[in-house]
Amino acid sequence: MKMQITEHPLFNLPIYQVTLPGFSQYHDEIVELFEGLIRSGQLKAHENGYGYQTRTDLLLPGAYGKRYFHELLASGFTVACKGILERTRVELPTNQAWVNTLTVGWANVQTREQFEEESPWHDHLPATLSGCYYVSTATGDEGNLQFLNPLMDNIFMPPSIEFTPQPGDLIIFPSFFRHRPGRCPNTRRTRVSLCMDSYWTIRGAGVEASDGRGTGDG
Ligand SMILES: [Fe+2]
Repeated sequence: MKMQITEHPLFNLPIYQVTLPGFSQYHDEIVELFEGLIRSGQLKAHENGYGYQTRTDLLLPGAYGKRYFHELLASGFTVACKGILERTRVELPTNQAWVNTLTVGWANVQTREQFEEESPWHDHLPATLSGCYYVSTATGDEGNLQFLNPLMDNIFMPPSIEFTPQPGDLIIFPSFFRHRPGRCPNTRRTRVSLCMDSYWTIRGAGVEASDGRGTGDG
């Protein structure tokens, strides 16, 4: 007896790839900035999370003496997030809108590190949407952005999937999606990703709106 078996995907979480106009001109400068902070000892391994990570001050106005983190990166990310939220299955009445309450950012810098352990799988809850802007990527097949299967480990699906970022990519994903950056033990280039978390709520007519604007809602 010949049976027909048809497969339907049940798990298909969205990952968004966005371009950020006007930012690529700063790539070299940003790599030099963070390589310099590591060289001078101002940025130490594991002091703010796994590997070389800055504090969550990247999107504050004038952070690291640069205007573009706040003015281009934070605002571009926020606009993209709003566009993404407006595409979800949440249909808002015309008198309501998605409102950004907080956006924070930090840099994750990966040198040719020989750290003993993998970066841990993690999520960014309770944020709504998270983003990684790739200033530079590792060489070879290292430093991919890895996402963990959100269902239990099973033989029907891969345990994780990898996205290979390119410089200039802004990757936005639901903050509950567990992920980690791949290791870069052999890279010939420093990998710099600018990480962001964005918090959103719905506000509308008749709702008392407090000033919940955050550090980078541009
Ligand atoms: Fe992360």
